[in-house]
Amino acid sequence: MRNLIVANWKMNPSSQKEAEEIFNGIKSGAEGVSSEVVICPPALYLPLLKGMLLGAQNVFWEEKGAFTGEISAEMLKDLGVEYVIIGHSERRKYFGETDEIVNKKIKKALEVGLKVIFCIGETAEERNAGKKSEVLERQIAAGLAEIRNPKFEIRNLAIAYEPVWAIGTGNNCSVEETKESLEFIRKIVGDCRVLYGGSVKSENSGDYIKIAGANGLLVGGASLNAEEFVKIIKSAE
Ligand code: PGA
Repeated sequence: MRNLIVANWKMNPSSQKEAEEIFNGIKSGAEGVSSEVVICPPALYLPLLKGMLLGAQNVFWEEKGAFTGEISAEMLKDLGVEYVIIGHSERRKYFGETDEIVNKKIKKALEVGLKVIFCIGETAEERNAGKKSEVLERQIAAGLAEIRNPKFEIRNLAIAYEPVWAIGTGNNCSVEETKESLEFIRKIVGDCRVLYGGSVKSENSGDYIKIAGANGLLVGGASLNAEEFVKIIKSAE
């Protein structure tokens, strides 16, 4: 299983020029590495960036029609986009995405042949209340409801464990706790890649792969600096 290293640029950078600069820096620095490296820029930059695997940060579950502002899985596929991030905690928090919505998006994306990076993770309150396992179990069961069906390619699914309290805070989850959570998730989902995300930087990235046993990383802030992101990619070699 090749490691999967994903850059989630979120709503950054502010210009096309900057996006191309960061992208080109990553592309040249990551040449020849053994991991699969995927860049997920804002959707409108997707057609501009060539020569690396691309992912979208969101998708809608309908094929086409009167859904102002949305982008379909078919459109992404047609553009040559291979991956899509679904269920990110920022979409759950700011855009009201429920487990049911996440499930509809995952089903549609897999059906169309996109590869899905399905994000799960507990909030600080849930963790402090001792509910981490319960939350992860619920998110997995609901997010993957009805997809254990031969119609869908389960091998096109990767799960990203992203504790919400660790995202964008500099407060990354310890390697020991991550290892336990990844093992817990694997027991439920079986044979698919399980990634870690949440304040990953080059000083801690290698440990998540080599000690915690992650099959890859989902990197936000640090993926906007080409040099730093290339270091992260190389730490997984
Ligand atoms: P971060 O974000 O690396 O900036 O913590 C990770 C993510 O939200 O995917």
